[in-house]
Amino acid sequence: MYDKRIEIAPSILSASFASVLNALRDAEEAGAEYLHLDVMDGVFVPQITFGSKFIKDIRPYSDLLFDAHLMIVNPENHIDDFIDAGCNMITIHQESTVHLHRVLSHIKERGIRCGISIVPSTPVSAITPLLDMVDLVLVMTVNPGWAGQKLIPGCINKIVELKELRESEDYDYAISVDGGVNLSTIQDVVAAGADIAVAGSAFYNESDKLSFMQKMQELAMESFK
Ligand code: DX5
Ligand code: ZN
Repeated sequence: MYDKRIEIAPSILSASFASVLNALRDAEEAGAEYLHLDVMDGVFVPQITFGSKFIKDIRPYSDLLFDAHLMIVNPENHIDDFIDAGCNMITIHQESTVHLHRVLSHIKERGIRCGISIVPSTPVSAITPLLDMVDLVLVMTVNPGWAGQKLIPGCINKIVELKELRESEDYDYAISVDGGVNLSTIQDVVAAGADIAVAGSAFYNESDKLSFMQKMQELAMESFK
């Protein structure tokens, strides 16, 4: 058994939806605790993926923690549906609504964890008023919309900044990183301070998923500070 230094969250977006139950099982058997669920509405980002019904339907088939990443405009109109569908945490985008404080408060009041995400062009300063209330900050290291893109190195500094802020201000959010995380980039994100790394194509394109997870942990351990 290996010593876990980072949580790798497989993103179902890179699995075939035709065999989604196999994809859930693959994530569990590879030792994942979280399943990352990318919800896209064709407005906030160009692609359309799935909504709360899909999540509700797969919920009985998995014990994984369901981490919904909402890439949708006006997420406040849909939060209750995603919570009722069985999500364990919901992350909304800083760029997706004016009323971030209200939406995040509502998620917390409903008893699940809340996260805030920023796209590559949004600085950490845009979310500093919210950092004391969130359980998770999701740093996008690609422009959201598709799996399989290359990590944008300039976004790594934001992970460092968030880790420093957490220490200096005594915040307790987890730092998650999403986009282009794979065997070549995991060390950079871990060294910067990530606690959770989302892996879409790197996980689901791999035939030996357990060995992939172990390699990611080994690389993470080498660069863990
Ligand atoms: C991108 C999504 C990501 C995506 C990651 O908009 O938010 O979660 O699934 O896929 P990879 O790991 O392939 O970049
Ligand atoms: Zn995502």
